[in-house]
Amino acid sequence: MANYISEEEKERQAGFLSRIKKINDDFCKENGRKPLCNTETYGCQQNENDTERIRGILCEAGYDFCERAEDADLVIYNTCAVRENAEDKVYGRLGILRHIKESRPELVIGLCGCMVQQEHMAEKIRKVHNHVDLIFGTHALYKLPELLCEVLEKNQSVTSVENSDGSICEDLPILRDSHNKAWVSIMYGCNNFCSYCIVPYVRGRERSREPEKILSEIKDLVKSGVSEICLLGQNVNSYGKDLAETCDFSDLLHMVNELDGVKRIRFMTSHPKDFGDKLIKTMTECEKVCHQLHLPFQAGNNRVLSEMNRKYTKEEYLEKVERVKRAIPDIALSTDVIVGFPTETNEDFEDTLDVLRKVEFDTIFSFIYSRREGTPAAKMDFVLTNEEIHKNFDRLLEVQNEISKRKNDTYVGKTYSVLVDGTSKNNEQVLSGRTDTGKIVNFKGDKSLTGKYVDVKITEAHTWSLNGELAKTE
Ligand code: SAH
Ligand code: SF4
Ligand code: F3S
Repeated sequence: MANYISEEEKERQAGFLSRIKKINDDFCKENGRKPLCNTETYGCQQNENDTERIRGILCEAGYDFCERAEDADLVIYNTCAVRENAEDKVYGRLGILRHIKESRPELVIGLCGCMVQQEHMAEKIRKVHNHVDLIFGTHALYKLPELLCEVLEKNQSVTSVENSDGSICEDLPILRDSHNKAWVSIMYGCNNFCSYCIVPYVRGRERSREPEKILSEIKDLVKSGVSEICLLGQNVNSYGKDLAETCDFSDLLHMVNELDGVKRIRFMTSHPKDFGDKLIKTMTECEKVCHQLHLPFQAGNNRVLSEMNRKYTKEEYLEKVERVKRAIPDIALSTDVIVGFPTETNEDFEDTLDVLRKVEFDTIFSFIYSRREGTPAAKMDFVLTNEEIHKNFDRLLEVQNEISKRKNDTYVGKTYSVLVDGTSKNNEQVLSGRTDTGKIVNFKGDKSLTGKYVDVKITEAHTWSLNGELAKTE
């Protein structure tokens, strides 16, 4: 059973929130505007969802939001530790923030999330980047009111990165990015300890939310106009293992599928070792569950998979994919791949390409292995040079790009229901949305269609997206 943050503690935090609100009301009287906060998120959907909670708390504390750190009174960066380049981006931003703070010392700078949950990292930031006022890890999110209050009232820096297996805090405020679709975290943490991965160290042990809490969050979302739900967890297939009442991921999907107003259900991520026939059957039974599956295989070679501690073989993976394809022929498949795991040879890498060719994924997310301090793989010696790894990475993209384009070509000439996300970034007249299978579709239309399901006939396929036109309704 997960450890829950008590009502008493939540009330204590609410007290701090009122104190910040008071400070911000005074700010408002003095300056004729609310204080502005700029948030940035690095990393995965789980982090996006956490930032929505942070923004919810800050909104209740009397902040408005702005797009640029230059205009902000408070900056909060929600960081990611999964690869070195995610951390480098934050360091780059910290350099810029130092300049801003030199000219505006009252700017409050906060760093939170996975990167600073690592103690050596929090220590380094305290020493080298002493312009950061507030550092809090993934387990301290619910304590934001207390921590921020301390910074504002005492004008001193605060750090809260205690390591814990993690708890669950229900009913935190939330300010969501989209009005049409929503992330809903169904569980937190990870128990898998893949040998390359930092996530279990920074997110704690697996803990599932009570189904009632998840369903009530979704019902509220529906009331506010949301119709597409994406259920989130590092390994949704192990949902429920720690619950008192029996409820596994398939049971949960059935329950969400029953809710009026929900039109589309997506989920991520599935771990291949736990993905199986029961979930495939559920996907076919629940008509709202989208025909889309993200099933990371990471590497194709069995020895590499074993050294990664993934607990499945290439053959088992391919077999499971075959079964999904048989049950749901139009399923869109995506995956994550790591190139250059320390012990991977050029020959091993051929097995990764072989999986790509056999499965024919719609999309892949590919990463060059990044050494993560404290993980077992960090102690392994590299077989390939950097140059060889990059060459393999380029080959991977070349093989996949051809497949992605070929898969997208099969959409041309057909009409699909698209949930409109909004206007395209570059052109106000072009709308962007997604099919049930998760394909991005761009087409001309009025922005009043945002949030609606429209039929779009696909006219052109690219590697990453489709173009189309609104289908004439007769
Ligand atoms: N829980 C999910 C994904 C978590 S992280 C899962 O198991 O699939 C997202 C992706 O980042 C992983 O799937 C993996 O492909 C990649 N990743 C994790 N650690 C990495 C590392 N040290 N170097 C490069 N890529 C990594
Ligand atoms: Fe990382 Fe593996 Fe857990 Fe995914 S399942 S978060 S890759 S340890
Ligand atoms: Fe996500 Fe990055 Fe943390 S991928 S769980 S934000 S380390």
